[in-house]
Amino acid sequence: MRVHLETFGCQMNRLDGELVAGALRSAGHEMVDGARDADAVLYNTCSVRRHAEEKVFSRLGADARRKRDGRPLLIGVLGCMAQRLGERIRRRCPAVGLVCGPGQLARLPELLAEAQNGRVVVALDAKRGEPQAGGADALDLSRDPSATPSPAQAYVRVMRGCDNFCTYCIVPYVRGPEQSRDPAHVEAEVRRLVDAGRSEITLLGQTVNRYRWRADGPEVRFSDLLARLSPVAGLRRLRFVTSHPIDFTDDLLAAMRDLPNVCPYIHCPAQSGSDAVLKRMNRGYTRAAYDDLVDRARETVPGVVLAGDFIVGFPAETEEDHAASAELIRRSAYKNTFVFKYSPRPGTTAAKSLPDDVPTTVKKRRNLELLAVQEEVGLAHHRAYIGQTVEVLAEGPSARASKQPRQPRPGETQLTGRTRGGHIVVFDGSPSLAGRYVNVEITDATSLTLMGRTTTG
Ligand code: 5AD
Ligand code: SF4
Repeated sequence: MRVHLETFGCQMNRLDGELVAGALRSAGHEMVDGARDADAVLYNTCSVRRHAEEKVFSRLGADARRKRDGRPLLIGVLGCMAQRLGERIRRRCPAVGLVCGPGQLARLPELLAEAQNGRVVVALDAKRGEPQAGGADALDLSRDPSATPSPAQAYVRVMRGCDNFCTYCIVPYVRGPEQSRDPAHVEAEVRRLVDAGRSEITLLGQTVNRYRWRADGPEVRFSDLLARLSPVAGLRRLRFVTSHPIDFTDDLLAAMRDLPNVCPYIHCPAQSGSDAVLKRMNRGYTRAAYDDLVDRARETVPGVVLAGDFIVGFPAETEEDHAASAELIRRSAYKNTFVFKYSPRPGTTAAKSLPDDVPTTVKKRRNLELLAVQEEVGLAHHRAYIGQTVEVLAEGPSARASKQPRQPRPGETQLTGRTRGGHIVVFDGSPSLAGRYVNVEITDATSLTLMGRTTTG
């Protein structure tokens, strides 16, 4: 079959999408870019905010119309929304023939074959607390290491699920309980990827730094996992996302300082700068504890770069609470911040017990205000690099390369890449540099990017 797969949401979903595409290819299917030429369209979905789900329903509506017009088309919903809504997806859109939860994706080739035979297939994960069929990493274990979308970079899952139950968050319900992978499996996967030419590995987990594994010997903490992976020959950069402030212990900061290829980048969402809001969110830390983490990170890890997430308009958030978030952005001096308007997710504690009482207009204004503060902070952060030479992993032509007013030298185009700290760098160079490391002297900056010229090729 010709299969079109579209992925929404976080990096964990992108990785799932990549692994699923690989598995479908091995099963003999052809992955196609456009939905128009496809025999099957699959959506790998996100439930974290309502907007993400609405987008998928509008795609499903368009596909259902095409089907009604007589096109044979198999429509499938995968991932978090599949898990959250199950059969209810088919009630809203009966044209959907396949619903597959995130823990069932390893079975997708066989499920697709069943659906192809005209059977409606709904495969959901077991309820929280019940063991998963096939183990936590069946999909990861079947991976083809040469099939990553990028020549030099790859994601590796180290854990799945979450047990934190932040009151706003749907993740523990749709991704299930926290389960870490066997470090031997993680190491084997990293080695295979590095052998296949991937030199930058990003470890993924919903709360990646809570990773822990206990079999016979002593417990393996996340810092121990980093120490085990760091010596892999050819692994030039080791990153991880997303961290939880509670689990950012000193052993992890020391590992970041001492292991030369672990990148000095910490994405550690605060969500709010106010103790009252943090408490209602069940985040498990105070503002003072978060400030202390930022201080410890800056003291321990030279040149550490921080990034954050904030939610505006959480139930009962006052102007004072909001001002505390703005102040936290300044204090933490983030490289970048993701700001989200609170979106009640059915079934979560907040949706059940805290009225969504901040008006949309106020949420919008607070969102813009935090972004404006971050823009100032981000500009100062990026400008501090002007004059420095940084190592950049070149990724490829920048999206704006074709619209560029200024012509680069012959044979060159505008490229983008990333520093070890995760900054986006725009510079002129040959497209053949993609996947290579270059030194770039920074000459200018905006609040989100560095601009520069190569000093070595
Ligand atoms: N509403 C708004 N933002 C949310 N996030 C998670 N759940 C919600 C919600 N219900 C945000 C958090 C998290 C990021 C991935 O999405 O900031 O860190
Ligand atoms: Fe959601 Fe909180 Fe778990 Fe992050 S830590 S996935 S916000 S429940």
